[in-house]
Amino acid sequence: MEKDAALMEKIISFAKRKGFIYPGSEIYGGMAGMYDFGPYGVELLNNLKKEWWKEYVQRRDNYVGLDSAMFKDPRVWEASGHTGGFSDPLSECRKCNTRIRVDKELGKIGVTADEKMSESDLNALFDEHKAKIKCPKCGAHDFTPVRAFNLLVKTNMGDFTGTNEEPVYLPGEACQGIYLNFKNVVDTTRVKVPFGIVQIGKAFRNEISPRNFLFRTRELEQADTQFFVKPHENKEAYDRIKEERWAWYLKMGIREENLKWKQHENLVFYAKDAWDIEYNFPSYGFDELEGIHDRTDYDLTQHMKHSGTDLNYTDPFTGEKYIPWILETSVGLGRMFLAFISDAYTEDELNGEPRTVLKLSRELAPIKVAVFPLLKNKPELVAKAREVFSMLKEEMMCEWDDNGNIGKRYRRQDEIGTPACVTIDFETLEDNTVTVRDRDTGEQKRVAIADLMAALK
Ligand code: GAP
Repeated sequence: MEKDAALMEKIISFAKRKGFIYPGSEIYGGMAGMYDFGPYGVELLNNLKKEWWKEYVQRRDNYVGLDSAMFKDPRVWEASGHTGGFSDPLSECRKCNTRIRVDKELGKIGVTADEKMSESDLNALFDEHKAKIKCPKCGAHDFTPVRAFNLLVKTNMGDFTGTNEEPVYLPGEACQGIYLNFKNVVDTTRVKVPFGIVQIGKAFRNEISPRNFLFRTRELEQADTQFFVKPHENKEAYDRIKEERWAWYLKMGIREENLKWKQHENLVFYAKDAWDIEYNFPSYGFDELEGIHDRTDYDLTQHMKHSGTDLNYTDPFTGEKYIPWILETSVGLGRMFLAFISDAYTEDELNGEPRTVLKLSRELAPIKVAVFPLLKNKPELVAKAREVFSMLKEEMMCEWDDNGNIGKRYRRQDEIGTPACVTIDFETLEDNTVTVRDRDTGEQKRVAIADLMAALK
């Protein structure tokens, strides 16, 4: 894959031009770290969610789904450790006031700052190496002391007095809603440990430097699976879950050479073991796509302590009581979207002509089929094509295009990844067959309208 910044720039401008991703609040000049999904983008995003959900809730009988409220009792974030430990160490350039992530800047010169380091130890480490760190904006070496900057986003929900002494936070991670409902799910469904609860939910982080398009944003959506196991029975399930996530990306069409495992050396406050699946993003290379965490009994124990509610699980066969351990998979859908669109973006030649084509799997393609009347000024062709279009539209995302020559219409559909195009021509009026053209090979076949649905599926 082209690794230069040019490819990422191409993908960003392609995504905007083709109606996949728009910069957030663009008519007001844009807002850092915010993006909107356009008409084709939202289809691709929904297809990613649908396939992911199908993998767990539909295909397996030991996973159930959930959708929890975004606003939560503020004590949730204390129990989870986010009001205390969910922070980035920041320093400010004394010359131009640019803020830097101290751990990242130290990392760039080969110095590791442990996540669990105290503020004073980190300051000492920073002082020792400051001379080698340059402000990315003005090049100065003069920085303020390091301060932990909490990433939680506060709201004024319910703050009728204007004091906001007990702020309600937006979720810093989506998974907390699953822990809050662990007992509800056990009490109201027939799940038994080991089992999983999955959720797709929004999270918000006051990231100091949102960057790299959809990679680091302040508003994100996470697809989480939380698998509850008996204490110490985590190893086998953790290995299986890791393998399954890897296999899912391959099944959905990501090229294996663009994936890599990375084990965390510095663990976040809740994890006992953590691995990332990294993706080879254009222009900045391998970086975290999805995190797979062994969270032990940290979360349920914390919520039991802070809420006073007994979150022990009672084994229905043995009567044994315990707090289950949790194995988590968590992926940001923006990053997933970026990985899939980058992997699928292809510039090739078909029949000697250059083209851009999005080689998405049929499941993920925003539009499954496009329907063209050969000529738009022949009412009998248009009427027949409308008939076919109406039939297909009931079953799949379908687009109508009667504008320009057929070659141009093919190119337009190739660019947005439509796997098949159907043309209604004069032969159709005689024998009720249509031409079906394949996106990847350009091959064309005659198919009877009666068999079309099955052929497309
Ligand atoms: N519940 C665990 C958790 O939130 P995380 O490693 O902080 O763990 C999980 O986040 C995933 O969410 C990451 O692997 C990444 O895909 C995505 N993610 C995290 N921060 C993000 C951000 N600022 N912008 C976009 N995606 C982000």
